[in-house]
Amino acid sequence: MPKEIRKILVTSALPYANGPIHIGHLVEYIQTDIWVRFQKQRGHNCLYVCADDAHGTPIMLRAQQEGITPEKLIADTWVQHNADFADFDVAFDNFYSTHSDETKDFAELIYNRLHEKGHITKRTITQAYDPVKNMFLPDRFIKGECPKCGAADQYGDNCEACGATYAPTDLINAVSVVSGEKPIDKDSEHYFFKLTDFEAMLKEWTRSGHIQEQIANKLDEWFEAGLQDWDISRDAPYFGFEIPNAPGKFFYVWLDAPIGYMGSFKNLCDKKGLNFDEYWAKDSTAELYHFIGKDIVNFHALFWPAMLTGADFRTPTAVFAHGFLTVNGEKMSKSRGTFIKARTYLDHLNPEYLRYYFAAKLSSRVEDIDLNFEDFSQRVNTDLVNKVVNIASRCSGFIKKRFDGQLSASCAEPELFQEFIDASDAIAEHYESREYGKAMRAISALADKANQYIDDKQPWVLAKQEGSDEQLHAICSLGINLFYVIAAYLKPVVPAMVTKAETFLNVDALPWPNQLTPLLNHSINKFKPLMTRVDPDKLAALISASKESLEKIAPIKKTKKKAPETNEKPDMIEFDDFVKIDLRVALIEKAEHVEGADKLLRLTVSTGDESRQILAGIKSAYAPEDLEGRLTVIVANLKPRKMRFGISEGMVLAAGPGDEDIWILSPDNGAKPGMRIK
Ligand code: MSP
Ligand code: ZN
Repeated sequence: MPKEIRKILVTSALPYANGPIHIGHLVEYIQTDIWVRFQKQRGHNCLYVCADDAHGTPIMLRAQQEGITPEKLIADTWVQHNADFADFDVAFDNFYSTHSDETKDFAELIYNRLHEKGHITKRTITQAYDPVKNMFLPDRFIKGECPKCGAADQYGDNCEACGATYAPTDLINAVSVVSGEKPIDKDSEHYFFKLTDFEAMLKEWTRSGHIQEQIANKLDEWFEAGLQDWDISRDAPYFGFEIPNAPGKFFYVWLDAPIGYMGSFKNLCDKKGLNFDEYWAKDSTAELYHFIGKDIVNFHALFWPAMLTGADFRTPTAVFAHGFLTVNGEKMSKSRGTFIKARTYLDHLNPEYLRYYFAAKLSSRVEDIDLNFEDFSQRVNTDLVNKVVNIASRCSGFIKKRFDGQLSASCAEPELFQEFIDASDAIAEHYESREYGKAMRAISALADKANQYIDDKQPWVLAKQEGSDEQLHAICSLGINLFYVIAAYLKPVVPAMVTKAETFLNVDALPWPNQLTPLLNHSINKFKPLMTRVDPDKLAALISASKESLEKIAPIKKTKKKAPETNEKPDMIEFDDFVKIDLRVALIEKAEHVEGADKLLRLTVSTGDESRQILAGIKSAYAPEDLEGRLTVIVANLKPRKMRFGISEGMVLAAGPGDEDIWILSPDNGAKPGMRIK
């Protein structure tokens, strides 16, 4: 038993309230939940809180799109998130929302304290503004052509085709995603948190064991580049908390998001009669840990500790960052059916498969982890079902049939049992340091040992021999006792399976094994399968259920492959992406100048049964009158795009020096509008 009971508060990052939980998120919630369950099983006082991250522009706009209030949207999402977490056995002590009185109070308190101490400054900045919707536009809400490679339909911060990063004002033919209108520049006064005031504190904090080394190295790069003031305000309309004494100005969602950790915990304190200050006051002796993904390190390892320090609260004991989930070596993808929602997974497979698989793959490092479906089935089937569950099923039949469900009065090999108990320090250390992969390997080695013992003793042979009852009883009882210890070690990872094991073993909730002694003269219950093998049909059904129908698929995106084929280049597209493009012969019926546009011509093209308008940037090469009556090739299934000069319903493919030679087909060759190009 640990010498003293630790007081620990743990958080996972707060999921945004405008989308469903997916298996990428689950890496984090499962990682954290295993750690918390481990601490609780060890007898520590450990609390786990989380909440939905309910504020910000995307949530406000999503609600508008659905024709509901943001309050309704976040309430509905909260119900879904809660159900997803519960069904994956992610056991929060409290799951709350940042849109709460508690979070508002703390956000105001922290802001006011920072303000009083001079850590807040104001200045006017110029930003893209939607003149129709009357709102400022975050980078993600502006789209246009990449200033570097010309790719269409790129966001205001970076190009998904060539990877360039730029300011939204650099985009060519930029439009507001909200209205389709060209954004204008507009000035507004913003509030900034003076992060630079905390430079010395942060340099010291990030180098004193609170964050992983990889992260500390990353932060060093930021320190070298120089810290910047952090823009913490947004103008109305915004779904969030209004800043005290600043009408029409709201806290940026990332200001109140981490404060949501406090809000959720305060809510728990009020429900349970706990003392908030014992965990958050400057002199707190409790441990505070934040589990996060690598994408949100700056918010947790720079802004958050600085805000807490400036507002006279304690800083986190540690921030633990994990990597991102890839599926079969690639980014999760809707077209490949690997963008798997938690709910879709639950409709098909046992959540504990995924908990076990993630545990087997997780370490304390920031590396990405890959879900490979073959590996997934194999590990679950081999390690959990064949090895662990098998120990119990091999021994329980004899105990039930021959010994009336009663275990023997003494332990056949106390040294072997003790060896299993003695592994507890090493396995505890692996869990504690988030080296779950190592913990799973150590537990698997014990399961091998238990199976080996049964193989050596061959109870099925003894069962047929006269006068071997006592031996048979002793061997099977020890087998059950070894299973008993293994089940206890696996409890943080597969709690539902272990609950079934507890029923089978007829014991109370299993404590950490350093406290276990063999079950002697103890009656057990009938064995029921604790876990079945992964059903390949169900796995296939899960993937197919996760595939979005073709029309919903986003435009072709660059995908990264793990092991490139020969001659493969990073910007090449998949064959699957290529076949999605519907290339058609089209007749240019009409071509006209577009007033005010330097490069564009407005073409009316026909694929035989329908005419459509395409805005094509080919004015520099062709006079309109030269184009009418000619055939060209178009991408016919490109989503219509609202451009500055109107809607464009396709893309014209053209190549060549700019004379007649560019048209690859002529009616003389039998080409007809509407023909598909293969
Ligand atoms: N709302 C913010 C967090 C605020 S914390 C004060 C946010 N939300 S999120 O929904 O986008 O992500 C929640 C957590 O899930 C983050 O820690 C994020 O890193 C993690 N993950 C989201 N997608 C992931 C993968 N594909 N793989 C692993 N973790 C991922 O960020
Ligand atoms: Zn580009």
